[in-house]
Amino acid sequence: MASLTVRQLDDKLKALLRLRAARHGRSMEDEVRVILKAAAEAAGREVLEKFEPPAMAVRRRAPPVAADARRILLIIGGGIAAYKSLDLIRRLQDSGARVRCILTAAAQHFVTPLAAGALAGERAFTDLFDAQSEFDVGHIRLARDTDLVVVAPATADLLAKMAGGHVDDLAGAVLLATDRPILLAPAMNPRMWAAKATQRNLAQLVADGVRVVGPNSGEMAERGEAGLGRMAEPREIAAAAAAMLRVAGPLSGARVLVTSGPTHEPIDPVRFIANRSSGKQGHAIAAAAAAAGADVVLIAGPADLPEPPGIAVVKVETANEMLAAVERALPADVAVFAAAVADWRVERVSRGKIKKQHGEPRALALVENPDILATVAHLKNHRPRLVIGFAAETDDVVANARAKLAKKGCDWILANDVSPETGIMGGDSNTIHLITATSVESWPRQSKDDVARQLIERVAAALRGEKR
Ligand code: CTP
Repeated sequence: MASLTVRQLDDKLKALLRLRAARHGRSMEDEVRVILKAAAEAAGREVLEKFEPPAMAVRRRAPPVAADARRILLIIGGGIAAYKSLDLIRRLQDSGARVRCILTAAAQHFVTPLAAGALAGERAFTDLFDAQSEFDVGHIRLARDTDLVVVAPATADLLAKMAGGHVDDLAGAVLLATDRPILLAPAMNPRMWAAKATQRNLAQLVADGVRVVGPNSGEMAERGEAGLGRMAEPREIAAAAAAMLRVAGPLSGARVLVTSGPTHEPIDPVRFIANRSSGKQGHAIAAAAAAAGADVVLIAGPADLPEPPGIAVVKVETANEMLAAVERALPADVAVFAAAVADWRVERVSRGKIKKQHGEPRALALVENPDILATVAHLKNHRPRLVIGFAAETDDVVANARAKLAKKGCDWILANDVSPETGIMGGDSNTIHLITATSVESWPRQSKDDVARQLIERVAAALRGEKR
């Protein structure tokens, strides 16, 4: 299907679309999907009846957030990129944060406080001299009752006001009064971005400790304008916010690499070799490491799981791709290899679909895949301080796992019995034997999340030098 680029529409249509999207609290792309669906339905095309575009539904109510959720104050400035800030609200919420919004007067030309408030689940604030808001919350509390302030889009005007400490509206007052970390997502015309005044203001803000994400390079909203100045994408801003919010924990300052999920080794364009790994254990370990304050990179094979929030996820298909991604992600302090890597791949992948040949079963020539764990465990340079593997066994679990530890050269092996009757592969719980060069420790059956937490506690203790 041909892709549709909103930017290719004419200005009038774009303006109308922007208004409609803002009114409904959707991104422009989602709004286009809704319009197309309605048109298809009106045309009575039965074939399209089941068409239900993902992410189309308006989220009228904010998702439930944990009581101890991190709080983000999002200041939406007056730029064309403000429509993306509605999507940003959802992205920040997806990482588990509670979001509160302030809209500048200029922002309200692009998005409405109603849309921002509906998505955030709390009314958006707009006015420094609004008696009701001052009575309810007050600008000083807005500035303090948050863990992070995000300004997106941060316009040239907002940067100038911040750098100069001007307080002529609510956003200015909050930015001056806050003692919380601030993240800016600048967005403006490339000439305004390159202007000496903007760069001077930015340098001042960076010197003041403000963090910046973007801007990116590309086509601008104005026809024929391109260059550096496009606001970073909502997912990039959300990732930067998550990194700034990362809790201080026992793994703060440590970089942890985790592989997870199966790999898929293609046979032909429609078939592949795979295994039953769900990725649940590996993803849980990545999430537990992030919750302990680590900088985590998760290298994931094709698993049907949501990406853990606040974690850099590299998606791969094959063992060779996984090895390349692991090598790119090094150095790391700790590497946990939880992926169920396919041991073999087809020697020659067929370009076309392999056809049945008169009922004769066809033999596939296989070659062995690289052993990622063993490769990393034997590295001379950049070997992580702690290299941890898994052993998926069905017989003689501990004996086989011990042999694997020696053969692969890793520091620890987490052995588990993956016989079908254990329900471990694909299930939510796991029974682990932690095997080191000198000991075997058997853990009770527990949820994969608890296994992950227990492992990360042990990792933190090992890095502190308590136990190895
Ligand atoms: N592993 C790997 N690369 C491979 C195969 C396995 O990194 N090509 C890692 C797994 O992520 C796991 C460990 O090695 O941490 C053991 O995997 P497992 O499937 O139990 O063992 P195999 O090495 O495949 O050996 P076997 O299938 O003979 O038991």
